[in-house]
Amino acid sequence: VGARAIAHGLAKPSGLVTCLPELSPLPLIGFDQLVFGGWDVSSAGLLHRARDMATDDRALGAGLVAAVEDDLRAIDLRIRPGFARGGGPATQSLASRAVRRRRETLEAAAQRLGDDLDRFREEQRLSNVVVVNLASTEPVIALGPEHASIDSFRRLIHNDRVTQVAPSTLYAYAALDRGYPYVNFTPSAGVSLPALQELGHKNQVPFYGKDGKTGETLMKTVLAPLFRYRNLEVLSWEGFNILGGGDGRVLADPNHKQSKLRSKSGVLQSALGYNPHTGVSIEYVPSLGNWKTAWDYVHFRGFLGTKMSVQFIWQGCDSILAAPLALDLIRLTEYAARINESGPMRHLACFFKDPMDVKIQSFTEQFSLLLDYVDTHARRVPR
Ligand SMILES: NC(=O)c1ccc[n+]([C@@H]2O[C@H](COP(=O)([O-])OP(=O)(O)OC[C@H]3O[C@@H](n4cnc5c(N)ncnc54)[C@H](O)[C@@H]3O)[C@@H](O)[C@H]2O)c1
Repeated sequence: VGARAIAHGLAKPSGLVTCLPELSPLPLIGFDQLVFGGWDVSSAGLLHRARDMATDDRALGAGLVAAVEDDLRAIDLRIRPGFARGGGPATQSLASRAVRRRRETLEAAAQRLGDDLDRFREEQRLSNVVVVNLASTEPVIALGPEHASIDSFRRLIHNDRVTQVAPSTLYAYAALDRGYPYVNFTPSAGVSLPALQELGHKNQVPFYGKDGKTGETLMKTVLAPLFRYRNLEVLSWEGFNILGGGDGRVLADPNHKQSKLRSKSGVLQSALGYNPHTGVSIEYVPSLGNWKTAWDYVHFRGFLGTKMSVQFIWQGCDSILAAPLALDLIRLTEYAARINESGPMRHLACFFKDPMDVKIQSFTEQFSLLLDYVDTHARRVPR
């Protein structure tokens, strides 16, 4: 909705990092040049979801949805059946009967997904295709030596080892194998497997992940440096999250929740330089729909050992926070691919809770990586 509304001049680009003046030196692709397609395992469709967001969640103006209705219908026609085997119990319950009944092998699915990408590129006459994983969170998969090289990962696919090849890793494989950039906005495994990074390097494709940083964790990575640079010792940092929507429903399953808790939990240690007592809880409250509330309690010690606290409440609309970042990532990834960059896009660390290959967790320091990238490219690439 947002991308099409901006393309039609119906909405302003607030919330988009790529529309900040600091990023203007990069010749990023225009919103009107983007064409959307995808896969889903549910048959609900974008238009239906957008209307729900307008009527039930009051997150979008109904007039805005109506104004881009034709565009959403056209995109819905380009949404192909996804692959859900091995994606966990909660994802199975979202999947349409047709997707659940499909007994497709991993090898056949990898071929089909790759063919979908090639066809999408040809039919829409695109210069490139950027694959972004925005699917429900999968359970954690146990990584072993078979995930270490692309040859052994290909054997897992060939032997249909569905417990060792999560759908997010198969989508990543399909993209990178066909030479398309890949970004993982979710806590699922995706391109975090060394085997897939090897494939990305081999095919000279840019990639990155994982788990978009949109709410509570964003606040943590902004506030933690405050305690560090004022030499205030954080004793405990407890975060309590309640959310509704599809994400909340999937995360209510403990198998799926584990992935999210992992990507949220690594932040404080590296931002503070030590590990305070910390806990993160995530509870599903169906009536909240697309809205989410996080309450964080930070207990810290100051001069002469005096204990104090900071508490904050974050109330956000999940999709409204995530969508502009997904668009930013598409534009920045398209640009990286256009100028033939490949490998992990470390300059995108500020967008992620668990940024690949970057140990820095302070948000402003991560943002400097992006500014440095802009600076280098502004000097190198003629506008
Ligand atoms: N603020 C945010 O919304 C935010 C922030 C960071 C990360 N994320 C992550 O983004 C993901 C999506 O979140 P959401 O709130 O949009 O969830 P959602 O439930 O609204 O949408 C998920 C979509 O993925 C589809 N899906 C599930 N398994 C699939 C598969 N194997 N193949 C293709 N499609 C599949 C579902 O049918 C659904 O349409 C989650 O992993 C979430 O943790 C979201």
